[in-house]
This record gives sequence, C-alpha cells and structure tokens, in this order.
Amino acid sequence: MSTALPAPPPEALALSTRLAAQIAARIRAGGPMPLRDYLEAVLYSPGLGYYSAGARKFGAEGDFVTAPELGELYGRSLGFALAPVLAACRVPVLMELGGGSGALACSLLRTLAELDRLPQRYLMLDRSADLRERQRARIGEQLPALAERVEWLDAPPAAPFEGALVANEVIDALAPSCFSIAAEGDRERAVALAADGRFVEIDQAPATALATALAHLREHGIELPPGYRSEVLPELPAWLAAVTAPLVSGVAVFADYGYARREYYHPQRRMGTLIGHYRHHVIDDLFLWPGLVDWSASVDFTAVAEAGHAAGLELMSYDSQAGLLLGVGPARLLGELAGMDEAARYRLLAELKQLTLPGQMGERFKLMALGRGDAAQAWPLDGLGQRHLL
Ligand SMILES: C[S@@+](CC[C@H](N)C(=O)[O-])C[C@H]1O[C@@H](n2cnc3c(N)ncnc32)[C@H](O)[C@@H]1O
Repeated sequence: MSTALPAPPPEALALSTRLAAQIAARIRAGGPMPLRDYLEAVLYSPGLGYYSAGARKFGAEGDFVTAPELGELYGRSLGFALAPVLAACRVPVLMELGGGSGALACSLLRTLAELDRLPQRYLMLDRSADLRERQRARIGEQLPALAERVEWLDAPPAAPFEGALVANEVIDALAPSCFSIAAEGDRERAVALAADGRFVEIDQAPATALATALAHLREHGIELPPGYRSEVLPELPAWLAAVTAPLVSGVAVFADYGYARREYYHPQRRMGTLIGHYRHHVIDDLFLWPGLVDWSASVDFTAVAEAGHAAGLELMSYDSQAGLLLGVGPARLLGELAGMDEAARYRLLAELKQLTLPGQMGERFKLMALGRGDAAQAWPLDGLGQRHLL
C-alpha cells in the first residue's frame, strides 16, 4: 500500500466496516464466497457498495476519471457519430446504461440539440440509485429545457424502440469471475474468513458458469498455463441480450478499457486485469476498505462481439478511442478550435491528447458498435479500425 494513500473520512470507514460485517456474516452462514460475489457485494450492496453509497467516485477529487468526465470532446464526438443513426429512425430514442455522474448525457444532449438530432426520449438505466439522483440533478441544472425528455428506468424498456444504446465503462464495472490455473486444474478465486475474522483469499473448484466459460476460451485457442490468472464474464451474453432486446433498429455502442481476446489472455498478462482504484491510487489489496475502492476488470471485446452475434446484432465497428475521435472528422474538431480563445483552445488540445495518445486513453480504450435493422447502416464508423484483431 502506498504511504501517500489518503485515509477515508470516519463516516466512510464506518460504512465500510458495516459492509465488511455483512459480507463476513454471509461467509459464516454459507461458506467461502467466490471472489465474483465479493466484488458484486463491495460494488453494489444496497446503501453500502461502492456504486450504491454516496462516495465522490468521478473526476479529479474522486477515484478515477472517465472520458466523458474530461470535458465535452468525447461526448461531442460520440454525438456526431450517433446523429446519422438517430436521423434514420422514425421516432429516435437514445438509451444510456450506467450514466455515472450524467456528464455523457449532458454532452450528448447538447451536441444532438446543436445538430438538430435530439432523440425524442433519452432513457437512463443505472443500477445505482445514488448516481441516478446525481444524473437527475446535473441534467436539471445544466439542461433544464431538455430535462423533460429524460426518463430513468429500473430495467430495459418492455416496448421496442429505434435509435441507439450507449454504455461507457459499464461492462468493466460488472463483477467478473476470477480464475487461477493450478497444476491440478482450474480454480476459482474465492474469499474465506481466517481464524481472527479477517478476509483471506483461497481458491476452490470453479462454479459451472466459470468452468463453461474457460472451456469456451480453450475451444477458441486460448492457452491458460499453470500459474496464469485472469477474469471472465460468464453473464455477459445474457446481460447484453437483455439490454439490447428492445433496440429494433439502430446501434448499441460499448466503450471501455479492453482488448480483443488474444491480447486479453496474452501469456504475458498472467496476473489478469482486475484493478482497484482509490483516489487515483492503484489498490491491489482486495480487502482494503470494502465499498470504498472501485474494482474493475478490462473487457474482452471478442466476447462482446460474440454476445452481440448471439443476440442477433451485427458488428458495425471496433476501434480504439483515438479511432472514434479521428473517425468523426478531425476537420470538424479543428474547425471548432478555430473559433476559440487561446485558453479554451489549450484546454481542448490537452483533452484531445489525453483521449487519443497511445500512452494515455487512446489505445487501451476501445469502442465497439453493434447494430440491428436499417438505422444501423447509418453508423458512420464502418470499416475503420481493429476488427481484424477480434
Ligand atoms: C465506471 S462507471 C462509468 C460511468 C459513466 N458511464 C462514465 O463513463 O463516466 C460505471 C457505471 O455503470 C453503472 N452500472 C453498473 N452495472 C450496471 C448495470 N448492470 N446496468 C446499468 N448500469 C450499471 C454504475 O452504477 C456506474 O454508473
């Protein structure tokens, strides 16, 4: 643990202690818990989990920064790319999953208003009640005239719609199943209680869904040698099918840190991709301050494409974030720069660098569009990028 790690305030520590006691009680009652279930609990336990409780989370004072939090550029670029799809719909609807602080919703709505391509309804679906309230407040404050188009949902809408679905850094926040390969076979990482009541990591026989997911990886040529550990999302196909089910015509865009499968399970990435963040520090102690640390794992985009295919969606594009920003037209962005004062131009260029440079977010951050129906054909990024890697 870094010595510079700032200690959480006492009220946050009190929540964390309550959450740890809840998890310990579950382990006492039911035996060791798969690490996946521990991650699910520390991220989403009602009122106490990382996303459910009131921590700051986003931005410079939070735990991590996402592309929409940096400024308008990412949301504007995505807005430019979505506009022709919405234009091809009879009654366009835009649905955002996991909208976080509401930053992307504001950028998208602003850009689409400017382009005269506003969706008739903007649907927000987020697991976190706390974040839903923040989204409502931000949109109400920044875009009062557009707020009535925005609706918050508890589940994907039952009625079909045409338009688009956007999920920025949502798949990386789904709790992954965590495995290790031992000499005697596949193991699932799990959490038990030591004699003194502390959490300890153990391993156990993999749950059926994990065993099936590992068999699938091997069938596709992935070698998992002894000593290797990583993560997989067995629930992804069912989750993706459910959230995209109402989209009858248009695109579903998933943007996240991640790789194509062969890069994801590269022999050199032998410790997996699970990572904790607290106030911009990387945390590797799984049991530090349950509920106060953000845990995420990179996304296997080949698995996203497979899940899309199984759900009847066509792969429209797969590219790096740099590809999105450059794909929607550097001329457009440069044109905007021309009309700005020096300070604004400097800020925008700094943001552009952070979003596109390979050492920053440009390469590790990917964007995949899956499509269905006629409106999908209007997605402008077809043919670009890294599809060949999948
Ligand atoms: C890492 S944050 C990203 C927030 C925002 N999209 C951004 O890029 O700044 C993950 C978001 O996904 C939400 N989330 C997690 N699981 C979800 C699910 N199954 N359905 C909808 N939202 C989910 C979280 O509550 C949170 O808002």
